[in-house]
Amino acid sequence: MNHLVAPSILSANFANLEDDIHMLNKSTADWIHVDVMDGLFVPNISFGFPVIAAVKNFTKKPLDVHLMIEKPERYIKEFKEVGANGITVHYEACTHLHRTVQSIKEVGCKAGVALNPHTPVALLEDIIEDLDLVLIMSVNPGFGGQKFIEQTYHKIHQLKKMALERNPDLLIEIDGGVSIHNSLALLKAGANVLVAGNAVFSAQDPIHTIAELKKISPDIIHA
Ligand code: DX5
Ligand code: ZN
Repeated sequence: MNHLVAPSILSANFANLEDDIHMLNKSTADWIHVDVMDGLFVPNISFGFPVIAAVKNFTKKPLDVHLMIEKPERYIKEFKEVGANGITVHYEACTHLHRTVQSIKEVGCKAGVALNPHTPVALLEDIIEDLDLVLIMSVNPGFGGQKFIEQTYHKIHQLKKMALERNPDLLIEIDGGVSIHNSLALLKAGANVLVAGNAVFSAQDPIHTIAELKKISPDIIHA
């Protein structure tokens, strides 16, 4: 499959979010990545339901909601109601992950599980077949604009191998420090969804940067 690009609005201008959503609408972005933080699971607080509902009002692009919150099972229905198309919960935040994944599917969303940098891919062995997406955190979650962790490549290789054997349609999403410079290597390793916050929103021309991220092809042999 062609890979997907999901700009993260964590790096958008919250005083004028409408402008940034219009920019994303005009761009070749596939999804809009929406980072929800509760100040407990991660040290930062971002935004919640009213902001997501407002974003949904201005776009037809699917909302890829990444929940960095404790016990996300409390709010699955509410995130669906404000417009989530996909909901990703953290492995580390769920005691009954299997049940939470089923409840995401029951509301009609794509179900994703995110892994923090220290969480081994092997822990997904007994749930991988139930998932639409795995998000590999390539920074410690909580903030945009951090440095990419190189160990991520190893994790993508391992996950790709597991996916080929058990769930070939699995989406492998990489989140944190993704840029024009590492995207080709990430795609070659097996990623198929690229999240980019800082790389898009701090660019001179965000629409151009999104187009560049979209254009990168692991099949083209670069001279
Ligand atoms: C970090 C968030 C990311 C963040 C990525 O906790 O999950 O989605 O927005 O930002 P960049 O691309 O700037 O690292
Ligand atoms: Zn995210």
